[in-house]
Amino acid sequence: MKALLMFITLTCVSFAHATLSSPVSTRANHKANKEVPSLGVPKSVQETWAMFSPYYPAATYVKPPKGCSVDQVHILQRHGARYPTSGVGKRIKAAIKKLQSVNQYTDSKLDFLKNYTYVLHKNTLVPFGAAQSFESGEEAFKRYGSLVSKKNQPFVRASSSSRCVDSATNWTAGFSDASGHGKWPVLSLILSESANDTLDNAMCKNAGSANPQAKQWLASFAAPITAHLNAAAPGANLTDKDTDSLLAMCSLDTVAQEKASPFCALYEELNGGPGFAYLADLDKYYGTGYGQALGRVQGVGYVNELLARLTGQPVQDRTQTNTTLDGSQATFPLGRGMYADFSHDNQLIAIYAAMGLFPQAKALDPTKPDAGRTWQAWKMVPFSARMVTERLKCSGGKESVRVLVNDAVMPLEFCGAKGDGVCTLDAFVESQAYARNNGDGDWEKCFA
Ligand SMILES: *[C@@H]1O[C@H](CO)[C@@H](O)[C@H](O)[C@H]1NC(C)=O
Ligand SMILES: *[C@@H]1O[C@H](CO)[C@@H](O)[C@H](O)[C@H]1NC(C)=O
Ligand SMILES: *[C@@H]1O[C@H](CO)[C@@H](O)[C@H](O)[C@H]1NC(C)=O
Ligand SMILES: *[C@@H]1O[C@H](CO)[C@@H](O)[C@H](O)[C@H]1NC(C)=O
Ligand SMILES: *[C@@H]1O[C@H](CO)[C@@H](O)[C@H](O)[C@H]1NC(C)=O
Repeated sequence: MKALLMFITLTCVSFAHATLSSPVSTRANHKANKEVPSLGVPKSVQETWAMFSPYYPAATYVKPPKGCSVDQVHILQRHGARYPTSGVGKRIKAAIKKLQSVNQYTDSKLDFLKNYTYVLHKNTLVPFGAAQSFESGEEAFKRYGSLVSKKNQPFVRASSSSRCVDSATNWTAGFSDASGHGKWPVLSLILSESANDTLDNAMCKNAGSANPQAKQWLASFAAPITAHLNAAAPGANLTDKDTDSLLAMCSLDTVAQEKASPFCALYEELNGGPGFAYLADLDKYYGTGYGQALGRVQGVGYVNELLARLTGQPVQDRTQTNTTLDGSQATFPLGRGMYADFSHDNQLIAIYAAMGLFPQAKALDPTKPDAGRTWQAWKMVPFSARMVTERLKCSGGKESVRVLVNDAVMPLEFCGAKGDGVCTLDAFVESQAYARNNGDGDWEKCFA
């Protein structure tokens, strides 16, 4: 698919009504159980699910400091909980098949496999993920609704994966529902993942992967678990990679079925959580984070768009932006009160790193987790994760900004914030030199 799918629906209220009729029924299923279902697995376990954790705020939201009020908001959000991606789904099925090929288990926690069928779909949003996206739209209205009006609608974009598109439309439905249907945001633009796209990380051809570091840690933490499973299912011949796939099922099956997966009993018995969580932290750090030479450059395009919106100036970028789209007021309007963009975990990580968020004094060690690290995937990129940039008007002062990731205020030391996370807009723009310089030569290395 070469051409960009593009909906310009800014004035098309009847279209908005049409797209908003189904989400309400999706929501109705959940309303019966009151709000987003609890899943039946302790939160302490869900936190070890890392990027497969459902959304939880990483801190309690606090209002901007006294004398400041939000006058513009930028929401960058990961899609909600989804089915396994195709590659992961295949590996999970293969691991289950190995376990089911033997006829005797010595651990009763495997007995459920005697009559078990893998039924998960692939890639798309699960109903639980739709509900969390809807709920985040409600929250956005409650927190920031005063910044929008019928004439000043949120400008909403999504990367073209159906899970991002569905998250965006469920979000707009939640936003609209919370507003008593007084405001009708619509998904304004879809960015094709096979073209220039600041909401995906597919353009940098030479970017490396986290495989070496992930392999190293997997061999160390998973070996005893794999040995236990092979002893419990003699002849199954599981590898460490199979163990990883089976551990992932605790989360992926639970968010799909909306009740504790039978794989979670194994996950807890084998204490798979800490190792699984660190595997994900390494995967993000060395995938598109600080540990990857061409990681953070993939976040530059979004940061340059953010700077343009914050300052009301045209986009200056020579990386992932589509200059045709970003050069037009219809597809890149300035001066809105609210922007929302729907993307993926690896892209959020690249953007955090491009901005300088979650700095690490030392590179993550693939042989040993540092218990005090702030790089924890479940706090950074759970399903429905969000980075929110608030532009603030402060009494007597200059325009300022604050950045929150999953409601935790980022310290922004790099632009001189003093503990409340607030920088002047000028200092923030100044601090984003890596983005403003188009990645200091790194973008060219993506193709050289
Ligand atoms: C919400 O997400 C679900 C997928 O889980 C999708 O089928 C539905 O169409 C979405 N709702 C809207 C309004 O797009
Ligand atoms: C196997 O699972 C199916 C579907 O969940 C169920 O209908 C059936 O009763 C189960 N059989 C046994 C022997 O537990
Ligand atoms: C840029 O956007 C235009 C307008 O939608 C589209 O036709 C074109 O294919 C896009 N080009 C790239 C390289 O993304
Ligand atoms: C495990 O390995 C043994 C010995 O090589 C082989 O006989 C058996 O078929 C293997 N089992 C599976 C499930 O591949
Ligand atoms: C798409 O991105 C490439 C790589 O940065 C750039 O050379 C090209 O001009 C961009 N195309 C558009 C339409 O912006």
